[in-house]
Amino acid sequence: MKKVIYPGTFDPPTFGHLDIAQRAASIFDSVVIAVGTNVVKKPSIFTVEERVALLKTITKKIPNIEVVSFSGLLVDFASSMKTHTVIRAIRTIMDFEYETMQAQMNKTLGNLETIYFVVGEKYRQVSSTLVREIARGGKRLTAFVPPEIEETVYQRLFSK
Ligand code: COA
Repeated sequence: MKKVIYPGTFDPPTFGHLDIAQRAASIFDSVVIAVGTNVVKKPSIFTVEERVALLKTITKKIPNIEVVSFSGLLVDFASSMKTHTVIRAIRTIMDFEYETMQAQMNKTLGNLETIYFVVGEKYRQVSSTLVREIARGGKRLTAFVPPEIEETVYQRLFSK
């Protein structure tokens, strides 16, 4: 059984994340979406539990996806899930450079293989940071965030 991990901060999840998750689920037997922490980023707006709940809501119709959280190193989490394959999404050449550094380190640390998915053209300009800014500015997120969670995400950010 081919299991893959799709890790990220997902603060909040977007259509771009959902697209990658759906594509991964059509290739692998099992996809584990893993909500983690990037220590370089500012504290997240949504708690880990909230992000897990948002991701569960938008992926509930895809039977071979599960959503969990993790702390510590990705290589250790992957080993605990008995897989050595992760997916990362590439939007731009900048993503490629950053991801390649991480991928090489994860390979060295724990023999973790990273598979790149190229983000679909219509999602290439989307990022969680931009989504947060757009909502804070009072614009709805209909084009960027799945409808089941749009209201929750908008209300949280707009009131901040
Ligand atoms: N469509 C649109 N945007 C996408 C996307 C897609 N398909 N996939 C990712 N993005 C965006 C995200 O929204 C995010 O935007 P933001 O920076 O504005 O928040 C950005 O691309 C990349 O973020 P994300 O995918 O969440 O990854 P990350 O670089 O924050 O890494 C972890 C998060 C948890 C995977 C990483 O920090 C990690 O592995 N942490 C554990 C500790 C560890 O092992 N570190 C590595 C040691 S080598």
